[in-house]
Amino acid sequence: MANQEHPIPQFPAGFLWGVSTSAHQIEGAAELREPSVWDAFTAEPGRVKDGSTAAVAVDHYHRYREDVALLSGLGVDAYRFSISWPRVRAEGGLDFYDRLVDELCAAGVRPVPTLFHWDLPVAFQTVSDSGSAAGGGWLERDTAARYAEYVSVVAERLGDRVKKWITINEPAEHTLFGHALGAHAPGKRLMFDALPVAHHLLLAHGLGVQALRAAGATDIGIANSHGPTWPASQEAADVEAADFYDVLLNRLFADPVLLGEYPAGLGELMPGDVAADLKVIGEPLDFYGVNFYAPTRVGAPQGADIEFGGLTIPAELPFSVREIEDVPVTDFGWPVVPEALTELLTGFRERYGDRLPPVVITENGCSYEGIHDRARIDYLDGHLRALHRAVEAGVDVRGYFVWSLMDNFEWAEGYAQQFGLVHVNLDTQERTPKDSYGWYQELLRAQR
Ligand code: NOJ
Repeated sequence: MANQEHPIPQFPAGFLWGVSTSAHQIEGAAELREPSVWDAFTAEPGRVKDGSTAAVAVDHYHRYREDVALLSGLGVDAYRFSISWPRVRAEGGLDFYDRLVDELCAAGVRPVPTLFHWDLPVAFQTVSDSGSAAGGGWLERDTAARYAEYVSVVAERLGDRVKKWITINEPAEHTLFGHALGAHAPGKRLMFDALPVAHHLLLAHGLGVQALRAAGATDIGIANSHGPTWPASQEAADVEAADFYDVLLNRLFADPVLLGEYPAGLGELMPGDVAADLKVIGEPLDFYGVNFYAPTRVGAPQGADIEFGGLTIPAELPFSVREIEDVPVTDFGWPVVPEALTELLTGFRERYGDRLPPVVITENGCSYEGIHDRARIDYLDGHLRALHRAVEAGVDVRGYFVWSLMDNFEWAEGYAQQFGLVHVNLDTQERTPKDSYGWYQELLRAQR
């Protein structure tokens, strides 16, 4: 339970408090941009659980002024949103972000855009292919080069007002869900043949850093998702399976970025001149963004598909995901284990040492229904205390962003999973701050 008697300890001076969203999940106004792979994916029956699409979403495109007012009312220092590449390609599309950034600056909220949050222009993806490795999009090296060109265009236009940038959001999930398991767009089920996607996303990140620096940017990071992996038992088969999962989730995207190398055995599986690419991928960063939700209990494969947290983990994978017993779960079924955040960050500090730049928690939050969301307050309270313990243990953490400002299109779950501090009525688009919005507002006041 959130503890009223013992307030959350003070975070260091200059700590950046914020909330996060992403373009495809909130903007709507699909007719004013090119289609993305997510538009194509949601159009296929059965892909999104409630059959919904993000064509209108929560209509942020038209209501951004009201949403910026919610941000300034909340009292955040910064707002993490994403720029839709398919919108930037449409006539006048970048004007929207120009207006949004102006509105944020006028409200005293620092804009922190992410340049790719999973919505690849469909023009770069052959949607009709049925899962072969020659499917365009991030399977092609060229997509990384195109991304860097797009980044230059955006940085030239917004760089006078945007000072903090995030290249790519959760390349691990985009590779795994989108290209290995097929649960997200572009819906490919390539299993380990999806590895080139990981490499090209990482290469795009590195080229993006270079493009941003060339445009004068000095505060650049990535948003990678991480969580401790706990073996189901100390038996060799479980430990081995957990290590394997840990490499995929925690090291495949962090080692190249922070150390300039792939975990043992993976570099050989990547396409192109990997050694040269790793020099680009390992460009030093100004901060390292961590999206944290939950730890994962992993064991040896169990010979059957497993349903977990909205996903089907196929039997043929060399690991299985198990329940973490005796902990609460969110509406999504994700375990609530705040101390795992302390464990994650102190473990990161140990593993990467001085190669780890200052950390920013770029996402943390939970899915619970309802406006009186005591459970969300408890989740956030617990995670902020855990984060503070990591700071006390010597991890250099500079910011924290709640996912999410408001309820939105939660990918394959549609609108069923609600992560917002603000409720949105999808019929009227009316915004109603939840109890957690008031709680975060109070916390931010107390932290000044
Ligand atoms: C991570 C993703 O970046 C975001 O798009 C998603 O909504 C949240 N996790 C919650 O699943």
